[in-house]
Amino acid sequence: MKRNMKQLSLLLALVIVSIKTTSAQTDKNPGAEIYMNYCSACHGKKLEGGQAPSLLTTKWKQGESKKAVTQTIKKGVPNTAMMAWENMLTDKQIEQVTDYMLFLKKSKKEKS
Ligand code: HEC
Repeated sequence: MKRNMKQLSLLLALVIVSIKTTSAQTDKNPGAEIYMNYCSACHGKKLEGGQAPSLLTTKWKQGESKKAVTQTIKKGVPNTAMMAWENMLTDKQIEQVTDYMLFLKKSKKEKS
């Protein structure tokens, strides 16, 4: 009986650990997923550009603060291919993708 309890609690601990790691994986970067799905076609996988100008080498015309970038994504850039995303993505998703873009930009800066 005692032995069973020990095995049970070991099993329980394992289950808890694996639940934790899976949720950590999905929480890892929702922004990255949104970026890959909706933005990378124009902005490139790592902001290097494509249809849109590179956002790694240039200063961002619309501003680089989190607030400014959020606003750009919501409203788009008039008369360019950059559309408004406020009806496509939730505020939370826009915030996540903003964080991801700023993270990409920052990680590039640190490397070069
Ligand atoms: C159809 C192509 C296209 C898609 C898709 C697209 N963009 Fe853009 N984006 C552009 C272009 C082109 C510009 C540059 C506009 C200009 O000339 O200033 C731009 C500019 C931007 C800027 C401002 C850069 C600056 O210089 O200030 C941000 C931020 C941005 N895009 C974020 C996003 C995000 C986030 C997504 C996905 C949700 C996205 N874009 C999807 C084409 C696109």
